[in-house]
Amino acid sequence: MSNLEQTLSIIKPDAVERNLDNEIKEMFKNKGFTILKEKKIQIEKSEAERFYKVHETKPFYDDLCTYLSSGPIVVMILEKNSAVLENRALMGSTNPTEAEEGTIRKKYGISIDKNSVHGSDSIENAKIEIDFFFKD
Ligand code: CMP
Repeated sequence: MSNLEQTLSIIKPDAVERNLDNEIKEMFKNKGFTILKEKKIQIEKSEAERFYKVHETKPFYDDLCTYLSSGPIVVMILEKNSAVLENRALMGSTNPTEAEEGTIRKKYGISIDKNSVHGSDSIENAKIEIDFFFKD
């Protein structure tokens, strides 16, 4: 049965800076994701604050927004059956030290902040996040 979904993925500044974007894209493709759209951009801190608004009460919010806007990122729409969950499985735990073998964050993550990738956490947020970056 088909359960085709789309989710938003961001390759974060720490990974783009180390030229890991192509290797990370290969990991998505090898797992059967289709990259429907992608662009390399740098965002303003104010845009990062809007993107991460759900975290605005968290102690790490300001650092998180400074970080996401600190350098180029690659934003992508990924498509696959159960894309939201499948992407979260491929990314691994938020903290790379807790991430499972074979995951992107285990392989490339440096710290909980510099954890190389972001992925939408629900189908509802995937729609919001895709619109955020790709609404024409
Ligand atoms: P991400 O999936 O992009 O969503 C929010 C980000 O906040 C998360 O990845 C982490 O990089 C970052 N972050 C920093 N500190 C924490 C923390 N204590 N708990 C969760 N996320 C954190």
